Amino acid sequence: MPVRRTNIHDLWEMKKRGEKIPMMTCYDYTSAKILDEAGVPMILVGDSLGMVVLGHESTLRVTLDMMIHHSRAVSRAAKKAMIVIDLPFATYSSSDLPTSLKTAGRAMAEGGAQAVKVEGGRRMGAVVGALVASGIPVVGHIGLTPQSIHMIGGYRVQGRTQEAAERLILAAQALEKAGAFAIVLELVPAPLAEKISKMLTIPTIGIGAGPGCDGQVQVFHDAMGLYEEFLPRHAKRYANLAGSIRDAAKNYIEEVKSGAFPDSAHSFDMDQAIKGEPGPHSPRKA
Ligand code: KIV
Repeated sequence: MPVRRTNIHDLWEMKKRGEKIPMMTCYDYTSAKILDEAGVPMILVGDSLGMVVLGHESTLRVTLDMMIHHSRAVSRAAKKAMIVIDLPFATYSSSDLPTSLKTAGRAMAEGGAQAVKVEGGRRMGAVVGALVASGIPVVGHIGLTPQSIHMIGGYRVQGRTQEAAERLILAAQALEKAGAFAIVLELVPAPLAEKISKMLTIPTIGIGAGPGCDGQVQVFHDAMGLYEEFLPRHAKRYANLAGSIRDAAKNYIEEVKSGAFPDSAHSFDMDQAIKGEPGPHSPRKA
């Protein structure tokens, strides 16, 4: 049976059925293979890679070439999940639609993704409209939008006041109207996220936005316990991979130092006939 990849219609049907949509970020081949095999229907090659993979302070240092590099690796492994790629900081804007189209086109064609994600509310309406008109499926992203961190002034919950909540509702409606097929709601009060989710026909994917969203997204390194420097309140650890890797590394160091590794099971012998007579490339001769 040919493998079928999740598409936007599947996601719309999931919302209609009330079936929650699990999404997780991913940035490399090996992890993507595992997530795909586990059955995650949506993988986000997020620009959070700038922080959890590359060690930057924010997502602003991430370039389109970096995104494409990681998305390509993910797309070589994930055959069933829909791959969504983040368009990075300052590579798209409603005041420059041709550049926005070029950015999204490269992200899709070179990165092997099936959809792109853009951050921003009503100001992104024109970008979303232009991309969708060119056949590029778009996920919106409102609430806390990390690419605007210096405008927002910190990583904090958005939409807490009546006025801010109304702005977010208008933003969500504008993105849906422009043609976004789903919207990420990041750090939005749970009752507001639930209200937005009920108002829209397209799915909402929450992160720090409560259980009323149609789906949830988590950052791989948070969920797997790989990134230990900081665990945001909205993140849940489903594994402790950093601990397992640290223990394994200590075990390895000990075995190398003691000579327990490599043993004969992990070493190679020579042909019986020439045993004891190293050839010209033998390390013993070098
Ligand atoms: O880059 C990312 O990981 C994201 C998620 C937090 C939604 O945009």
